[in-house]
Amino acid sequence: MSLDIEREYEELVREIRNCKRCPLHACRRNPVPGEGNLRAEVMLIGEAPGEKEDEQGRPFVGAAGNLLTKLLSELGVRREDVYITNVLKCRPPNNRDPEPEEIAACLPFLVRQIMLIRPRLIICLGRHSAREILKLAGYRESEVSQISKIRGRVYEVVLPGDVRTIVVPTYHPAAALYNPRLRTYLQEDLKKAFSIVKEGVQRKRSSILDFLS
Ligand code: URA
Repeated sequence: MSLDIEREYEELVREIRNCKRCPLHACRRNPVPGEGNLRAEVMLIGEAPGEKEDEQGRPFVGAAGNLLTKLLSELGVRREDVYITNVLKCRPPNNRDPEPEEIAACLPFLVRQIMLIRPRLIICLGRHSAREILKLAGYRESEVSQISKIRGRVYEVVLPGDVRTIVVPTYHPAAALYNPRLRTYLQEDLKKAFSIVKEGVQRKRSSILDFLS
């Protein structure tokens, strides 16, 4: 990895830790920039840190995170192989929904993360993440605000910084914790998303073999 990417990432994390762009900075214990592999092919984007995440400064480490980690490992995916972050980097009080002004203040950080990592595929966990990412890709809010309609779809998009990527929206793991139907959808969507990445790698390999033969 080029040193520039690492340096730029460190700078971004420093800015997130010092951020006072919205009122959430006043009630956070720790900001949660995100974590994982900066060369990941897959980026997972949730909504906002919850209590445990705020305590530890790490994304998806509470009950929803444990479910996510389990579902990923069932697919043979380790957390260290992907990059995990959220739309908001600070916890909203009592885990309420993010306010539009908070999203507007925080979104530039997410855009910079996407531009640095340039993932081949983005999995949006929950409606807030799906709506914001697909709006960045040029969709109208009315087209992408119902997660039940858009989950499991495969969007080929261009994001800021000319990041050409695939977006798969799905349910948030917290919604799937106590709802077996949503959990099945989440499992199916994750499986579909990772199979797209694996297929791409296989296609690349076989075209190299075709070329050599
Ligand atoms: N919910 C989220 O959206 N993100 C986290 O990091 C934890 C719970």
